[in-house]
Amino acid sequence: MASRLAQSAPSEGQRTDEEKGLGPGAAARRLDAAGTSVVVRRCIEDPELIHYDSQIVKYVTRAIESAVDRAARSFPAVVLTGPRRAGKTSLLQHMFPNASYFLLEDPELVARVRADPQGFLDAARTPAILDEVQNVPEVFAHVRARIDRRPRRAGQWMLTGSQDAPLMQGVTESMAGRAAVLRLLPFSARETPKVSLLRGAYPEVVARPGAARLWFSSYVQTYLERDVRAALAVRDLATFRRFLALVASRHGQILNKTALAAPLGVSVPTITQWLGVLETTAQILIVPPFYENLGKRLIKSPKVFIADSGLACHLLGIDSQAELAKSPFIGALFEGFVAFEVAKIQANAGQRQQLYYFRDEQGLEVDLLVPGRSGEIRLIECKAARSVTPSDAAPMQKLAEALRRTRRTPVSVRLDLVHEAPKAGATTSAVAPGVRALPWQGFLDTM
Ligand SMILES: Nc1ncnc2c1ncn2[C@@H]1O[C@H](COP(=O)(O)OP(=O)(O)OP(=O)(O)O)[C@@H](O)[C@H]1O
Ligand SMILES: [Mg+2]
Repeated sequence: MASRLAQSAPSEGQRTDEEKGLGPGAAARRLDAAGTSVVVRRCIEDPELIHYDSQIVKYVTRAIESAVDRAARSFPAVVLTGPRRAGKTSLLQHMFPNASYFLLEDPELVARVRADPQGFLDAARTPAILDEVQNVPEVFAHVRARIDRRPRRAGQWMLTGSQDAPLMQGVTESMAGRAAVLRLLPFSARETPKVSLLRGAYPEVVARPGAARLWFSSYVQTYLERDVRAALAVRDLATFRRFLALVASRHGQILNKTALAAPLGVSVPTITQWLGVLETTAQILIVPPFYENLGKRLIKSPKVFIADSGLACHLLGIDSQAELAKSPFIGALFEGFVAFEVAKIQANAGQRQQLYYFRDEQGLEVDLLVPGRSGEIRLIECKAARSVTPSDAAPMQKLAEALRRTRRTPVSVRLDLVHEAPKAGATTSAVAPGVRALPWQGFLDTM
């Protein structure tokens, strides 16, 4: 049925089943970030290769694969969300090469599926990948009914969708207990050493760093026109664009909604709503304050970062290593980079984000706090420098002492001073009592 649907569409006439994304070696004609129609396909002869337009790139194994695999063995459905261009489609096609694949994006196909979701699903061979399912929320009730008929059959439905779509939110709720929901973020530095502070981690930027500027401009444009327009009734996208630039200009700072609202001439509730969109589409990383009664008054607002450091640099007008090195944002960019890498490790393990910062009203400040295994607390200070000094560790030592003093039960606190890799190669050293200085790559390996 699916292939009949596609075949009867005039625009699909000249294409093979494969190009429609319906057969093995699935391929799909789709818009890339620049809004150009390109063919993305898995190579039939070698599934390790992906054709992207005229370029062939080697498939990079994703760290989330074992979580997806576990989920597909335990749940009837797996829902994969995440920012645009993070690699959702590539991942599912790579992991489930024998699943039937449906890209619910072409308006013609969408209209037909909408008109007869039951018929569409009856004809779909499972396991099936339903890509961009937010475009056809009608199918969810039917997928759900099908699952409930045979609730023990795991790994039947692989769905991707952007979480910002209001319908998608209701959908993930209605699939509770039937679907595992996982979030795929851009490449992590553990997945490929090509991830960098300057260019970030989007697969296409990592593959073509020279084209980063153009890619990010197109990405922002497409993001605004599709995700933002779909999620909000923003008539004036130019204002939202200015909002994005303003958020970037406050990269790593404590959120002050009034200060964001005033220059844009919008209300604070509007800012709250807009930040919600940026967060659910994983364009920003929100780091809430760590709260513990230490007898101190604490700051209660979160810190906000542009999630991908490449996008952050782009929005800040930083386009080379030299500009990055002398930018006043270098410290915040490095801190956000480390924070997002930690968030990726957590998301790839199927865990919820657990990332905090600490600041009290006396000015004691620690960049990041991560609850570790078995109740341990990890304090992390980030320095965008190749070397560190004992004084860099002082705030962590103070906070660790306060934590140990106020907790009734003994608490294990681990202190890491994370810095850029020294030229001579990665080293770890004890910089102050109980404090380890680690290059960021080495630090991530300890997470
Ligand atoms: N694991 C990977 N290894 C190498 N390249 C990848 C990988 N995943 C994605 N890419 C590259 O990134 C591009 C975008 O990936 P993909 O289309 O899978 O992302 P997506 O999250 O499905 O995007 P969209 O939100 O637009 O649907 C691909 O065309 C491919 O070039
Ligand atoms: Mg996709």
